[in-house]
Amino acid sequence: MSGIVAVIGKKTKVRGVFNKLKKLEYLGYDSTGIAVLDDNKLSLYKDITSMYNLEKKLPELLESNLVIAHMRWATHGKVCLENTHPHQSKNKIWTLVHNGIIENYEELKKSLVENNYDTDSAVLAEYLEENNVNDIHDFINTFSNIVGNYSVVAFNKNKLNELFIAKNKNPIYIAKEEDNFVIVSNPLSLENDTKYCYELLDNEFAHIHNGEINFYYQNEEIKKNLIELSKETENISTGEFKHFMIKEIFETPQALKRQVEYYKKYKILDKFNSEFFNSFDEIIFVGCGTAYHVALMGVKLVTKLLKIRSRTEISSEFAYSKPVLANSKSLFVFVSQSGETADTLSALEIAKSNKAKTIALTNVLNSSLSKKVNYVLPVCAGAEIAVASTKAYVCQISALYMFLANFKNLLGDNIDFYKDILRISENIMNFDKKKIKTLAKNLKNAQNPIFIGKDLDYITAIEASLKFKEVTYKNATSYASGELKHGFIALVEKDLPIFVFCTQRELYQKTLNSSNEAKVRGAKQIIITNIKNINDEDTIFISEDDELLAGMFAIVPIQLLAYYIALENGLNPDKPRYLTKSVTVE
Ligand code: M6R
Repeated sequence: MSGIVAVIGKKTKVRGVFNKLKKLEYLGYDSTGIAVLDDNKLSLYKDITSMYNLEKKLPELLESNLVIAHMRWATHGKVCLENTHPHQSKNKIWTLVHNGIIENYEELKKSLVENNYDTDSAVLAEYLEENNVNDIHDFINTFSNIVGNYSVVAFNKNKLNELFIAKNKNPIYIAKEEDNFVIVSNPLSLENDTKYCYELLDNEFAHIHNGEINFYYQNEEIKKNLIELSKETENISTGEFKHFMIKEIFETPQALKRQVEYYKKYKILDKFNSEFFNSFDEIIFVGCGTAYHVALMGVKLVTKLLKIRSRTEISSEFAYSKPVLANSKSLFVFVSQSGETADTLSALEIAKSNKAKTIALTNVLNSSLSKKVNYVLPVCAGAEIAVASTKAYVCQISALYMFLANFKNLLGDNIDFYKDILRISENIMNFDKKKIKTLAKNLKNAQNPIFIGKDLDYITAIEASLKFKEVTYKNATSYASGELKHGFIALVEKDLPIFVFCTQRELYQKTLNSSNEAKVRGAKQIIITNIKNINDEDTIFISEDDELLAGMFAIVPIQLLAYYIALENGLNPDKPRYLTKSVTVE
């Protein structure tokens, strides 16, 4: 996902607008650009090195009544100045920024006279010019030819006191801050005291002109109400930490505690009563990346707690596999930290068209996903800025645990699940952090680490290897431990790190048997366990006995290890190359 900030109205400090964009840095950091109107003269500033270098180019006292700014996460066209937003049409009639993908841009391009553009966004700007778009009605009509997902903020050189905004499947919000309209792709960049804003819905348009705003749906003017922002009140900064990633890892205990308080205060689980429980006969968990791993853990928890059918789907596969769904007694749980992942939103449409019940397990309560499902199962991790998900993963699993344990209690059990989560919040950081630092130094140059486990531990191994890959760029892989001798033992060579998750009493010996087969062939074994009698040189002990919950503990030392290895290699763990926090394109 890229980031958009635009401001129109009274003169405002351009650096102030840029500060709003800086809050979205985690959403896309391939390149940055800003268009500034300064006394009727339009200037474009662009940079592909870092947004901070672009900031230096902005005159300190520069003010403007019209600014549009963009952080790019490249989808079409390489990372270069030319492909950096804002884009302008050939005669500079239209200037725009765009998030998303114009899917039919090749087709649009063919209809253009000037058609040597590399990116879908640049084609769009030219398309507006060559189709003589001149007012909001032309603008809306032209968008009936545009296929894809987008939020677009544009202006016309002949109407420099107007902004044109279009939205489909990519968020865009409009707020009034003092005398200005502020348009943002994420409310995080609004001022903390901005409590209300307009939110455009799919296929809606906004037109701001002379201090007024009008909204349209398919050329019909519509009325829109302000929505209240449920914004994080916490400060979005790294605070005493060097990076967001480590800050967020250490925030896990307080996030878990907050989650319990929130569930109690708002009686979140009350609606998931016996009637609800009897309304479905299978649970299908859907997600991407780390959220998919939460989904995998969800299936394990359902199997162990409720013994009903459940399965997972990768959002991007499910959305396009034309699945045959059993019946409307399927309960879908869509897992998404951001609630904006395009593939997950597409998968949701399939579930809805099959009349299934839908739940969003999400950290963002006003996200697109939250608005489209029947129920929201809130995750209270707080803003997660580092691209690699850490505290949200743990909080998502804890929310699932409470949700499922609540059903188990309806069946006659008496699990004190709130107490369980509070215990986790007390103890989750109880592991030897010094050892992790030392390991990071020792493993700095190690290649191709392998992560293994059995059952629940296998899911932790899968998530651990993703965390590793994301921030260290090492090709980590994960396997069910029993699979070792079925093939991947061939990968073992001297000092190959093999991370072994052993948190289940009945299974750990079997896992160790497998990893020993690698160890005797030269692999370097690192065990993560809660079983005290394991005694190996590089063992990381976690302090949770309940094996259903130990996975939440076992991942944290590896999140931290991945972080330190990234640092050892001079990498920025908050902004892994090529990644974006929220993937709003399919
Ligand atoms: O916002 P979502 O949870 O839907 O995002 C899904 C994945 O893109 C995300 O988990 C990704 O894999 C993270 N970078 C993992 O750390």
